[in-house]
Amino acid sequence: MMITLQQLIDWLKKLDVVYTEQKDFLSKLDSDIGDGDHGVNMARGFSAVSAAIDSASPSDIGAVFKTVSMSLIKNVGGASGPLYGTFFLRAAADFAGKQEVDLSAWTRALEKGVAGIEQLGKAQKGDKTMLDAWLPALAALKEAEGNGIKEALKSAVDAAEEGMKNTIPLQAKKGRASYLGERSIGHQDPGATSTFLLLQSAAEILG
Ligand SMILES: Nc1ncnc2c1ncn2[C@@H]1O[C@H](COP(=O)(O)OP(=O)(O)OP(=O)(O)O)[C@@H](O)[C@H]1O
Ligand SMILES: [Mg+2]
Repeated sequence: MMITLQQLIDWLKKLDVVYTEQKDFLSKLDSDIGDGDHGVNMARGFSAVSAAIDSASPSDIGAVFKTVSMSLIKNVGGASGPLYGTFFLRAAADFAGKQEVDLSAWTRALEKGVAGIEQLGKAQKGDKTMLDAWLPALAALKEAEGNGIKEALKSAVDAAEEGMKNTIPLQAKKGRASYLGERSIGHQDPGATSTFLLLQSAAEILG
């Protein structure tokens, strides 16, 4: 089983719809511990992604991911634009010229993408950031590599969801939420939530 160029385009376009639908929810989470713009950022970013894919019509997966990266970096202010942008840029490196990829290539690309987020943001597991969804998802994906794509992507989503919920009792150590100190405890991290949504749509469409 393979993940195809067309499926990936469908996934990215679905994210435009999902983040538009979840805009108020994500911004509400961010208004509890940040500046209340995460939903607006993600919706604006992925609407730009969708438009850029339409106008550039990239012809391989690497080119699609580069287009995504550039759109996010250009159109999303704040911390999350460069972080998600870096994720797609690093993941793109493995996909140059590819029309389809298998599960192990997908897992390796995600691993590079997540490493990019770690390098840029210098956050660690437990700092109450998007990494608290990405890292367990990646671990689950690696563990499930012997399974089919569908099951592997599903176990990644389950792990991301758990990681997202586990951010609630954490104290933020990075980003704006960290300025709140102990008052950041008791709230779900917005970036971990947008990462969960991204992976949930991936499981739906690529699985
Ligand atoms: N250093 C970091 N590493 C990883 N993720 C981070 C980092 N800093 C912030 N984030 C993620 O970005 C999310 C906030 O994204 P948003 O789009 O609201 O940008 P922002 O308002 O500039 O954020 P912030 O001020 O928190 O940096 C947080 O919920 C967190 O998950
Ligand atoms: Mg914000």
